[in-house]
Amino acid sequence: MPIPEVEKIWMDGELVDWKDATIHLLSHSLHYGSGVFEGIRAYETPRGAAVFRLTDHLERLERSGLIYHMPLPYNLEELIEATKMVIRANGLKSCYIRPIAFRGYGEMGLHPLAAPVNVAIAVWPWGAYLGEEGIEHGVKAKVSSFRRNESNSIPTAAKATGQYLNSILAKMEVIEAGYDEAVLLNMHGHVADGAGENIFVVRKGVLATPPTSSGALEGITRDSVMRIAEDFEIPCREKDLIRTDLYTADEAFFTGTAAEVVPIRTIDDRVIGEPGPITRRLQEKFFEIVKGQDQAYEHWLEYVD
Ligand SMILES: Cc1ncc(COP(=O)(O)O)c(C=O)c1O
Repeated sequence: MPIPEVEKIWMDGELVDWKDATIHLLSHSLHYGSGVFEGIRAYETPRGAAVFRLTDHLERLERSGLIYHMPLPYNLEELIEATKMVIRANGLKSCYIRPIAFRGYGEMGLHPLAAPVNVAIAVWPWGAYLGEEGIEHGVKAKVSSFRRNESNSIPTAAKATGQYLNSILAKMEVIEAGYDEAVLLNMHGHVADGAGENIFVVRKGVLATPPTSSGALEGITRDSVMRIAEDFEIPCREKDLIRTDLYTADEAFFTGTAAEVVPIRTIDDRVIGEPGPITRRLQEKFFEIVKGQDQAYEHWLEYVD
């Protein structure tokens, strides 16, 4: 889907025009995927635009950088302020936010430490990643034949740009086969996560999601849903799942910043059905929280103004 253009992008400390936010062809990260990034959302609330768990996302960006020996040239406070500044500069009430730190121009070898670390933050309006219909009635998921990166090959704890080739292979495979989203198993055959989401199942009233040691990203939406479940007194376990745990689930759903909370209607053509009561309850609460309609979770909102 085309990216809706806005006016400004924050690049290395300055706001630049959208069309001028370019980099050199010989930037290290273009060739080797040596960048780390985040996906964040700001929502419209009664008190204006609020970024959902901004600090938690930017701390994960710092951790991703740490894994790749890429200390960020801006501290947390500066990145928080830059994010708010670029949202304000574009006058957006709600948006998707894409901070990226990458090895820039200056070094072409595989030892990148001499290349500069550039940082940019782009924002744009972005609707439901897996579609409104998906949020309402669920999506068709398929287990990909591509396995999730093994974390001792490419660390799954980081959100690194090159790492997403793995998700892209899986996503292309299932979309071309007529499905909406891919599920990736790890090298041991355990469920890891979706192409760009974490995954949950419900069986006999108990929620389960793969542990991060399976290769699942430590998702911020995943964490939010686990805490909401705790507040609702819905038991939730982090445990290894195999593909048939998905087939036999009473309910299943994806979580992620782009996707939000999306029910799974079918998995490998096995019907789970319309979103079940636990999925609906968690999904409704999630949307109430991000839109500033539940004071109890106000601490997750970081207001732009
Ligand atoms: C592979 C993968 N798993 C899970 C997630 C969900 O993480 P979050 O809820 O922090 O967006 C994402 C998105 O960032 C992802 O790319």
